[in-house]
Amino acid sequence: MASAGETLLALGGKRTTGQSIRTQNAMAAMAIANVVKSSLGPLGLDKMMVDDVGDVTVTNDGATILKLLEVEHPAGKVLVDLAQLQDEEVGDGTTSVAIIAAELLKAANELVQQKLHPTTVINGYRFACKEAVRFIQENLALSTDDLDRTSIIKAAKTTMSSKLISTDSDFFAEMCVEATNLIKVTDASGKATFPIKAINVLKAHGKSSRESMLIRGYALNCTRASEAMPRKIAGAKIACLDFSLQKSKMHLGISVVVEDPSKLEAIRREEMEITKRRIEKILKAGANVILTTGGIDDLCLKQFVEAGALAVRRAKKVDLKRIAKATGATLTSSLATLEGDDEQFDPSLLGQADEVVQERISDEELVLIKGPKARTAASIILRGANDVMLDEMERSLHDALCVVRRVLESKKLVVGGGAVEAALNVYLDNFATTLPSREQLAVAEFANALLVIPKTLASNAAKDSTQLVAKLRAFHYKSQTEKENSHLKWAGLDLENGNIRDNKEAGILEPMISKVKCLKFATEAAITILRIDDLIKLDKVEKQQHDDECM
Ligand SMILES: Nc1ncnc2c1ncn2[C@@H]1O[C@H](COP(=O)(O)OP(=O)(O)OP(=O)(O)O)[C@@H](O)[C@H]1O
Ligand SMILES: [Mg+2]
Repeated sequence: MASAGETLLALGGKRTTGQSIRTQNAMAAMAIANVVKSSLGPLGLDKMMVDDVGDVTVTNDGATILKLLEVEHPAGKVLVDLAQLQDEEVGDGTTSVAIIAAELLKAANELVQQKLHPTTVINGYRFACKEAVRFIQENLALSTDDLDRTSIIKAAKTTMSSKLISTDSDFFAEMCVEATNLIKVTDASGKATFPIKAINVLKAHGKSSRESMLIRGYALNCTRASEAMPRKIAGAKIACLDFSLQKSKMHLGISVVVEDPSKLEAIRREEMEITKRRIEKILKAGANVILTTGGIDDLCLKQFVEAGALAVRRAKKVDLKRIAKATGATLTSSLATLEGDDEQFDPSLLGQADEVVQERISDEELVLIKGPKARTAASIILRGANDVMLDEMERSLHDALCVVRRVLESKKLVVGGGAVEAALNVYLDNFATTLPSREQLAVAEFANALLVIPKTLASNAAKDSTQLVAKLRAFHYKSQTEKENSHLKWAGLDLENGNIRDNKEAGILEPMISKVKCLKFATEAAITILRIDDLIKLDKVEKQQHDDECM
């Protein structure tokens, strides 16, 4: 039997309409948000996820938790995608965005139940979001132009405060800022960008996280192909190859009929000669460092050793792509020319670096490419007890690198610890009363929904969230109504002592873009789900067996 709001379709499926689907969607979103809620903030806890093959992931990152959940409900999936979007666009704030979106949806559902039309709620939400973003930009943003390097470090520390590496956040924050500065690229118009993908993060077991290190240059987790090759090459000319330097073989399916057995040897020799000639061409072009994704035959190694070149085999393709970018090389997948006659290797395909050297770093031998010509490069080697820990360290470091990059690019910061959300709550609440239309109710609910962040932060820290949030709102009300108290707009939660403090002084800073995007994305996701008033779900078609046809 179909329940209220559900009808059975002639097609073989179920259709859910009206209020019933709205409530169902809101409940699904809340269920998802409740999973990540307890991981928000510096005193939030981690989650352990075990997948169907038994792989364990321990994480505090909202996007990672949601990705591993395998959500079935269509509205829930929107929330998972939302967190992923925030992760790609900003890198941090993925937990917050899911929590806010769910809260907005819950509030909207209640409004619709009180007979407000969904379109009115949607309009109200859009309006509130726009006002909120404007208010942040005009009143709550700090510009890093007049703030120094320490504030960027503080932003990185705030991000890491909720993660596994929070105890060493000083150490890692310095490292992140330095690494991001190393890969700065200034384009023709003078605008600086920080492609953090150029930072290679390597993980090595053993020692403590404090022994992690930053390396100026690109660290390649490989060793030279033969011990007879030089350890160090200055003025390196680098060839990046995406093919093997092995005895060339006929393609599959080609058969050669040889009638004279003496010619067999000649064919074998020629197979070897083809690769030999290729290597000669590469060396002739001036290459003294050869990196390849494929293998190198032992016989071919001799050629490199004699030429005094350093060759590395079985490097990862992503690494080679990045090295090619950094050194100005071209990743070559074959030596064939457009003319189709003889194979060629042009010297312009080579990249350059000051030095390529194989060094022993902590317990591992790595090939380092120092001083690449086209761009700078940086690598971070993480140390940790086990894989689970190293993976989480990498994710946390990625969040911090993204934050540093955002701050350096946009040069705008806001104060964390619920300060922005509380300020927006007070402002939008007041703003709603100036609206004479029905949207007023939606704007007021939007304002209320934002308080979920300070509330959750406080309850995760085992503090009285209702009282703390009331106190926080009172501070922000004062700051917005009394001119002499405007400095109170930096008031935020002090989660260790269960009090309110000036979070700007305390150094709890976050990139403005993280908050703005978080609000925008959460509103959009809530609206997307709110617009749905019909769910038609078709039954799965049972596969019919056509055994008799095969017989
Ligand atoms: N020392 C602190 N005191 C008070 N609040 C803090 C402190 N450090 C961080 N916060 C707050 O914690 C929240 C961020 O928590 P968290 O990093 O766990 O979640 P997220 O950034 O939303 O998601 P994720 O990091 O998983 O992508 C922000 O609202 C931030 O203002
Ligand atoms: Mg975070």
